[in-house]
Amino acid sequence: MNDSGFELRANAAGGGAILSDRAGCEITLHPLWLRERVSEPASLDPLNHQRLYEPNDLPAELAVVALARRGEDVVQISFSDGYEARFSLSRLLVECGWIADPELPPLPEGWTRRNGEIRAIEYQHIGTRDGMHELLDGFFRRGFCIVRGTPHAPGDLDRLAQIFGYIRETNWGRLFNVISKPAASDLAYTGLALAAHTDNPYRFPVPGIQFLHCLDNTVAGGFSTIVDGLALVERLQAEAPEEAATLAQLPVRFRYDTSSCIVEDTSPLIERDYLGRLVGLRLSSRLDYVLPAENDQLDLFYAGRRRLQRLAADPEMAVSFPFEPGLLLMMDNRRTLHGRTAYDSAAGRRHLQGCYIDHDGPRSLWRTLMRDGEAKLGREAA
Ligand SMILES: [Fe+2]
Repeated sequence: MNDSGFELRANAAGGGAILSDRAGCEITLHPLWLRERVSEPASLDPLNHQRLYEPNDLPAELAVVALARRGEDVVQISFSDGYEARFSLSRLLVECGWIADPELPPLPEGWTRRNGEIRAIEYQHIGTRDGMHELLDGFFRRGFCIVRGTPHAPGDLDRLAQIFGYIRETNWGRLFNVISKPAASDLAYTGLALAAHTDNPYRFPVPGIQFLHCLDNTVAGGFSTIVDGLALVERLQAEAPEEAATLAQLPVRFRYDTSSCIVEDTSPLIERDYLGRLVGLRLSSRLDYVLPAENDQLDLFYAGRRRLQRLAADPEMAVSFPFEPGLLLMMDNRRTLHGRTAYDSAAGRRHLQGCYIDHDGPRSLWRTLMRDGEAKLGREAA
């Protein structure tokens, strides 16, 4: 047992090791699991951290034959094939989930109107470590963030979005324009109010993050609204757990179909990971077609969807703000819902540009910020 209260010892019975803490909790570490975590330069490329060997070539009957402490955080392990390696105990603890990964982005925190307001960050400030840290911290906790005072000529979003990630092009284009126009191909291009929704639920994969960038706005109304899907799902779970379970279970077909683009994907409205945490919510009431199921299941589905949409329309669940020229909104399209209040499209001009990026970009920025104190988005050869 070291000062931090953790101990690693050989496990004679299983051939691997046993990790334990002061409270007596134990986890058995398989010898191959340990060996695959060797991080010495002979086994792991020091630059890209890719293995320099094929792990399937390791002996299937591999065992730990000796284990010795070599310092507060260092354990030396000898394996039955003669290989010896030093391990960082704290790294093994992170791998086991016993201590937090210091580079892990902040976990999402559900919010409502009462505590959902977020401080907008000035554009000049995001070039600093503290500014980028504050912006990304808010984004990961709340699922959205706002930058103010950005350059806002048409097309500037292309460069702004690439501060955070690589643009995901779709049939809407690399950048899309949200302005009122006749014979609109989507309700977004009218002055009508838009109920809170997630974008493009019919795509595989669904776009991860959406940007909306205001170039011009002289109309009254047309406020942007954001609703936290995590808070919606938590409320649904608390009020009607059977409905929540059904929405996480029944497959729903989403489809966008025009003459030039037919895209379709099928998924439950609520997607969870193996720990039950929310992965994504698809809420787009004009586009969802639940697959056939027993009547009692569909009763629960329709009741759950109605409850979810009623919650999503509740002003107590939303934050709203006007779009001013230069305002850049970045939102997690898998978690937050967005909408807008109505405006008179004949009374003035309102022009937004939008685009999508994947989650990888901001997650990588956060990790490089935590490791090096600098947010870096690198382009590297495959
Ligand atoms: Fe939208």
